[in-house]
Amino acid sequence: SFSVHYASFFPHLLAAQRKQIDAVLAPFLLSLDTLREVKNKMRAELEYGLKRETQASATVKMLPTYVCGTPDGTESGKFLALDLGGTNFRVLLVKIRSGRRRSVQMYNKIFAIPLEIMQGTGEELFDHIVQCIADFLEYMGIKGARLPLGFTFSFPCRQGTLVGWTKGFKATDCEGEDVVDMLREAIRRRNEFDLDIVAVVNDTVGTMMTCGYEDPNCEIGLIAGTGSNVCYMEDMKNIEIVEGNEGKMCINTEWGGFGDNGCIDNIRTKYDKQVDEGSLNAGKQRYEKMTSGMYLGEIVRQILIDLTKQGLLFRGQISESLRKRGIFETKFLSQIESDRLALLQVRRILQQLGLDSTCEDSIIVKEVCGAVSRRAAQLCGAGLAAIVEKKRENRGVEHLQITVGVDGTLYKLHPHFSRVLQETVRELAPQCDVTFMLSEDGSGKGAALITAVAKRLHNIGRKRGLIDKYLYAMRLSDETLIDIMARFRREMKNGLSRDFNPTATVKMLPTFVRSIPDGSEKGDFIALDLGGSYFRILRVKVSHEKKQTVQMESEIYNTPEDIIHGSGTRLFDHVAECLGDFMEKQQIKDKKLPVGFTFSFPCRQSKLDEGVLITWTKRFKASGVEGADVVKLLNKAIKKRGDYDADIMAVVNDTVGTMMTCGFDDQRCEVGLIIGTGTNACYMEEMRHIDLVEGDEGRMCINTEWGAFGDDGSLEDIRTEFDREIDRGSLNPGKQLFEKMVSGLYMGELVRLILVKMAKEGLLFEGRITPELLTKGKFETKHVSAIEKSKEGLNKAKEILTRLGVEPSHEDCVAVQHVCTIVSFRSANLVASTLGAILNQLRDNKGVGRLRTTVGVDGSLYKMHPQYARRLHKTTRRLVPDSDVRFLLSESGSGKGAAMVTAVAYRLSEQHRDNLFAFFLGYPPQLDKRLQGYRL
Ligand code: BG6
Ligand code: BG6
Ligand code: GLC
Ligand code: GLC
Repeated sequence: SFSVHYASFFPHLLAAQRKQIDAVLAPFLLSLDTLREVKNKMRAELEYGLKRETQASATVKMLPTYVCGTPDGTESGKFLALDLGGTNFRVLLVKIRSGRRRSVQMYNKIFAIPLEIMQGTGEELFDHIVQCIADFLEYMGIKGARLPLGFTFSFPCRQGTLVGWTKGFKATDCEGEDVVDMLREAIRRRNEFDLDIVAVVNDTVGTMMTCGYEDPNCEIGLIAGTGSNVCYMEDMKNIEIVEGNEGKMCINTEWGGFGDNGCIDNIRTKYDKQVDEGSLNAGKQRYEKMTSGMYLGEIVRQILIDLTKQGLLFRGQISESLRKRGIFETKFLSQIESDRLALLQVRRILQQLGLDSTCEDSIIVKEVCGAVSRRAAQLCGAGLAAIVEKKRENRGVEHLQITVGVDGTLYKLHPHFSRVLQETVRELAPQCDVTFMLSEDGSGKGAALITAVAKRLHNIGRKRGLIDKYLYAMRLSDETLIDIMARFRREMKNGLSRDFNPTATVKMLPTFVRSIPDGSEKGDFIALDLGGSYFRILRVKVSHEKKQTVQMESEIYNTPEDIIHGSGTRLFDHVAECLGDFMEKQQIKDKKLPVGFTFSFPCRQSKLDEGVLITWTKRFKASGVEGADVVKLLNKAIKKRGDYDADIMAVVNDTVGTMMTCGFDDQRCEVGLIIGTGTNACYMEEMRHIDLVEGDEGRMCINTEWGAFGDDGSLEDIRTEFDREIDRGSLNPGKQLFEKMVSGLYMGELVRLILVKMAKEGLLFEGRITPELLTKGKFETKHVSAIEKSKEGLNKAKEILTRLGVEPSHEDCVAVQHVCTIVSFRSANLVASTLGAILNQLRDNKGVGRLRTTVGVDGSLYKMHPQYARRLHKTTRRLVPDSDVRFLLSESGSGKGAAMVTAVAYRLSEQHRDNLFAFFLGYPPQLDKRLQGYRL
């Protein structure tokens, strides 16, 4: 111990004196057991502060800070910061850069706060603060800029209001008041400049943030300075007075109040009590008064007075200086205790303080200082041990690795405090590996970081709200969706009825496909797949060895714009050429394989192998095809070549092909849905409802061609200016209006138009509009998909928007993501309502209370968009609650399904031949019942 040490070096200290001094200092020596007890008590008080029932009366207040994360490096901007409550009052300008060149630049100025202002009226205090800000703005030459401000206010605040002054402050009319309001009022009173006060933070929180910027593992902030306090990241579920269980929130413990209920009175000395009584806040902050810089000197002074009274010091004379409160500032304590100082220098310091001391006096003073500061460090360590132990338990780990960000003159300048503190924590929390990280830049940097986050959240929140309002018409309520579902149901009815079909917008085309595959199909087929994003030719071999198996090979061919927009003859020549190439590659040019033709456009059919194109949709617009039979056109093109032969047995829509592909795996599949370049659905309808086809038995697949829904004006109430603009710029104005609100060919463009308008109104990109942004097609649907990815979405947004040259801010990226979400969500919702109508029809057809069915789905939007499928499923189930719908993704495209249809058609044609043969032989024709409906 110190006493032994000094006694042996200075034998002239009398044994009697020695004993008396030891007796005075004995209560400052704390055993490990005592420290453990302190730790446990602190732990209990932390819990009281967190619990709803005990929180009001808790001495450790555990104030929620609403700071929910540590900095992540994306913060940026220019901020003002105030730092009030420590040794110095500072005004700072903080410039934060994010990204690869992330950095923080700071400029600051220290201002004095005279005692009479610290303890005057609130108005005087805040006027003074504003005066200092004005000086600083002047000094920096930035008076005109209305900067966001973060305020490190190192006193206990509950939701922005000052709970009570601590340390050396005692300005009137402040307790219970809102700190931001007080500052704002003062700025108004001055009426010289304006600031955007964004955040008020405690110095512990600022410190944690400052250090957290360098080390993400920093989840505790400690101040050992004028005052003493800790904050840490607590699990939300443990914070009973704040709603929500997810994530973490920083808690400002205000542990300085520990012991205010008397729970550590057993270790408080009479000197501690004297210090408390002489303080501005008697009875309060008892732990702080034993551990922090503002009070240690006072404790020392009280001891020195006592020792002097006992005649052990200063020749028994209590000088004027010794009577002066506050003469022992932390820095003197630190100097006196420095081992590098010779005793003579200690004497000089004491003399400076007006304490005329002998050499012996200096030894004793040094000893007293040592005892007091050592106890402070140990007590602080015991408290911190309680915190890190709690963090360890929260994480549920055996060993915790954690960083504590620390600031404060006591910790920084005192020669022994930090070492003793760390030793104590190690001793009392052996399962925690605690790294102490000194905050080099003070809490101002952290306050600026918090301001950046708060500002961003605020801006994002505001912007989101703004976009929501802006795109209000695109956010369809369930009520609206149910209404649209009913409208579409009526359209379906019209399309099916003989009387209304000619004028119906939703054409409800019979496909002459009467059932899904039954597993008996077999053979070697070719399938063409034209009309989606790719033109594909496939060879599909269906064999039956024990089990039905399908083998497919395929080739993708280009369909250049000049061909799909040129003459129909050229288009079909191109298709025939590709088919020839494919057969060449497959070495089947000499064979005449049956061909199935997926042609993804509305065709009127009177049999399987005939399809009269009603109108082009999507990207196609070749002349001379509308009104013609595409099977004939293709046959003609093949004949013209003369290098191979083909037998086109069936033309099917992609929805039908998809339903058949999925029906191969799931017998319950009776709906085919495409959400890709275009959108459409087919389903199995009862023959008795299909007026346009003879017969009432069984079912037939109906290609709804729902893309045309709304072409008669029935969706005008939900179409927006952007939808109208898309339509005007399309190949088929006035047509496929539903498709244009939903499908992939238009979605990116829809988003682009919205972004252009928002930018023009200054709501995005600071109003920047670039030629790229103004170029049609520069924003694609795949970009919407990329931006809506949950993890890398924002980075993608940045990348994509940067390519458009608009220099997006983080908020712009978040806003654009939100726009994408609204547009794609609307699409999924609209499809859910039209699909819902089909499901209702199926349920009613079956006369069941609950529909159990499978929907086969294909299309790039459905497949590639990260959220689309889930949203569609969810909304569909909500809109049609009395159903169990399985969505089955078509993995192999519609070609396989087209082959299935072809297989049936092929068998029928063979049978037809047989039947004709039989007919000539006088046998009655025996048609397979299942195939009866296929008209040839
Ligand atoms: C400073 C911080 O570095 O340390 C302040 O910027 C904090 O926010 C202070 O209050 C605490 O130490 P002291 O010793 O000045 O009270
Ligand atoms: C494919 C089908 O998988 O999806 C095509 O094989 C269909 O027949 C297409 O047209 C639809 O999606 P997209 O996105 O290519 O238009
Ligand atoms: C006092 C204040 C507290 C602050 C600490 C350190 O304890 O009440 O808010 O964090 O001092 O400055
Ligand atoms: C268009 C076509 C339709 C097709 C859909 C999906 O809407 O008109 O036939 O099914 O796109 O590709």
